Amino acid sequence: MEDVFESGNTSVLEICCYSTFSPWCEFYGDIPCEKSTGYRKKDFMSKYNYKNIASVYDNLSKQHQWQAPELLFNFLSEFVENETKLLDIGVGTGISSERFHSKQVELYGLDSSSEMLAICKAKDVFKEVFLFDLHKDKIPYPEATFEYVICSGVLHFFSSLEKIFAKISRVVKSNGFFAFTIIENYKNDNPYATETTNGINLYYHSKEYIKSLTNQFNFTNLYEQTFTTIRDLDKRETLDHTLIVLRKE
Ligand SMILES: C[S@@+](CC[C@H](N)C(=O)[O-])C[C@H]1O[C@@H](n2cnc3c(N)ncnc32)[C@H](O)[C@@H]1O
Repeated sequence: MEDVFESGNTSVLEICCYSTFSPWCEFYGDIPCEKSTGYRKKDFMSKYNYKNIASVYDNLSKQHQWQAPELLFNFLSEFVENETKLLDIGVGTGISSERFHSKQVELYGLDSSSEMLAICKAKDVFKEVFLFDLHKDKIPYPEATFEYVICSGVLHFFSSLEKIFAKISRVVKSNGFFAFTIIENYKNDNPYATETTNGINLYYHSKEYIKSLTNQFNFTNLYEQTFTTIRDLDKRETLDHTLIVLRKE
């Protein structure tokens, strides 16, 4: 086991298998784990997190039935107009926004993983992509730049969402759209509940919390769709995510 963590050649699937990480949820997040993780696992995450997964991400997303890209396109493409701009935050390999290229939408992407961004860039449909940390960076565009901002498969790696809503609200145009996914908190009445698996935190957000942020940042709720993903392919465990589309007033 020690060797696996030290090896630079282990395949991502081997790593998932040895480490007992669910390759779909915990594995793809930021590295929010602190003291509980211990040095070795943290090191493991930072060394391998996206570096080895990036090249297989699009295939894995199909296996895990990650339906957000399709649902997002099906809903938002109805509203698409010419000469519009879409910003995808936590863009990864681009799967949640690349389809909008066929609608002549100008695509922009931000992500904290250079390996994921490299795959995204190679698809040659994005106008620009930048390394960016949603925890601490300001979105590098002027106020009211985008008709569409999406954040798909990302917010469950963050506890409080106020600062993220504030950052995003700044760059969405009036009448523009903010589309994102959450994992819903059915566990208790708190704005978010935490689940820690192998030292990786996942956050489940309540609908009430999202509703209060929607009002606070002058959005209205247009659409919600819950869909089921396969969390663990071996155990056939599932996990529901919810796509929410808001419109700026
Ligand atoms: C599960 S993937 C989702 C990728 C893509 N949006 C999709 O729909 O498939 C999560 C993405 O969020 C990115 N990410 C995680 N933490 C981030 C942060 N703090 N700032 C920016 N991106 C982050 C990861 O690099 C990864 O590409």
